[in-house]
Amino acid sequence: MSSHDDRWIEELVRSLGRTQVITDPDRLPSFGGDESGVPAVLPAAIVRPVTVEAVREALRIAVSARVPVTPRGAGTGKAGGCVPSQGGLVIDLTRMDRLIDLDGASMMAVVQPGIVTGELRRRIAEAGYLYPPDPNSLNSCTLGGNVATNAAGPSSMKYGVTRDYVLGLELVLASGERMGIGRRTLKGVAGYDLTALVVGSEGTLGVVTEVILRLRPLPRAQRTFLAYFAAVEQAALAVADLAAIGVDLRVAELIDGLSLDAARASGGFGVPDAAGAALLLELDAEREGDALDRSLEIVGEQLARHDALDIRVAATAAQRESIWEVRRDLSATIKEGRSHWISEDVGVARARVPDLVRAVARIREQSGLTMATYGHAGEGNLHVNILWDDPADRPRAVAASEAVFRAALDLGGTISAEHGIGAAKRNYLAWEQSAELIAMQRAIKLLFDPTGIMNPGKVFP
Ligand code: LAC
Ligand code: ZN
Repeated sequence: MSSHDDRWIEELVRSLGRTQVITDPDRLPSFGGDESGVPAVLPAAIVRPVTVEAVREALRIAVSARVPVTPRGAGTGKAGGCVPSQGGLVIDLTRMDRLIDLDGASMMAVVQPGIVTGELRRRIAEAGYLYPPDPNSLNSCTLGGNVATNAAGPSSMKYGVTRDYVLGLELVLASGERMGIGRRTLKGVAGYDLTALVVGSEGTLGVVTEVILRLRPLPRAQRTFLAYFAAVEQAALAVADLAAIGVDLRVAELIDGLSLDAARASGGFGVPDAAGAALLLELDAEREGDALDRSLEIVGEQLARHDALDIRVAATAAQRESIWEVRRDLSATIKEGRSHWISEDVGVARARVPDLVRAVARIREQSGLTMATYGHAGEGNLHVNILWDDPADRPRAVAASEAVFRAALDLGGTISAEHGIGAAKRNYLAWEQSAELIAMQRAIKLLFDPTGIMNPGKVFP
């Protein structure tokens, strides 16, 4: 690669102007990392386009100089997907942040990738609709990053993940060619589903410059509640048994003892002393009414059968918000004061959650390291966090994280249920997928990106 030859940077500046290109060494570091713990890498230049034409031009210049290109949103990713592993050019899409069209009658929206997900959800809610994906970073992450990683959040248990809401998108290929993929209809079966392929492709196929989303009616009533248990195994067994009651829970999050301690320390949840684990649950409905309270009762009875110590329902919007604030901060609070961590997002079928929790407990005992587990248990997706301070413990921590991958795979699960493979887990993809399947995906990438400039060093081993 000729990325050390600076002529392509001069060409970028000439073509796009100083307002869209950053080369100032002081400003480059803030575009080199994410929240994964994968070491940041300095790019050589940043393009911050405001138009799709600028994206196309940047890619044309990059491809002719064979410079690696890493698209980027807010940098809240958890797998190093937007770390420019091989340097080169970063395309920061946060300035392309318009809600282009909100077509309420058709329950669709057309959006640029740089819009902050929480802001998009707010604007759509103001119009009376719901855009469901609610990753915990929703107040800072962008839609484009959500599309790149097929992001999900607590409510994907009921509503599904980003991919379930993307009807179509505009993709700029490495060649600079602009491609409309998918459709602006709710239904459509013409040709292969390349929209589904691009969502979750972690910036390896092209740059997404526009997204067509489907919307849902806005639920105007909800019940948010916490159930406390003596130990995490009981909470896990309760989750595994929730399907039996036939209630469509929006959220069922598990919080183990150590994570609960972190929540306690951050002043949240009002956790009873006897509690060694909790479930955070949520129900919603289009409107207030007895049906919602009846569902709450049914869930409460089921949790009581599973020896819940106490169930506390948020009585006000403020209480509800404070519970969510504590939950959204959990990923950060459990790492507070610790020097090193590995954070995982393994997934298994919901009925296997108790097995996964038991396996994690065994791994923790064997490793002797601190491990805090919480996450989207209703979807079988747990965040296992391995924490240590002494740098000499890293090999043990890596071994523990690999044991967690093995445990998930042995239970028929996946090494990444929601954060993506990125740079962090690419050496483990072959643990889950066959060589043939990986080769097929590489071949697909080459069709989109024949010179391999799009986000190299990601996803594949
Ligand atoms: C969460 C992020 C880490 O669920 O996915 O907190
Ligand atoms: Zn999560």
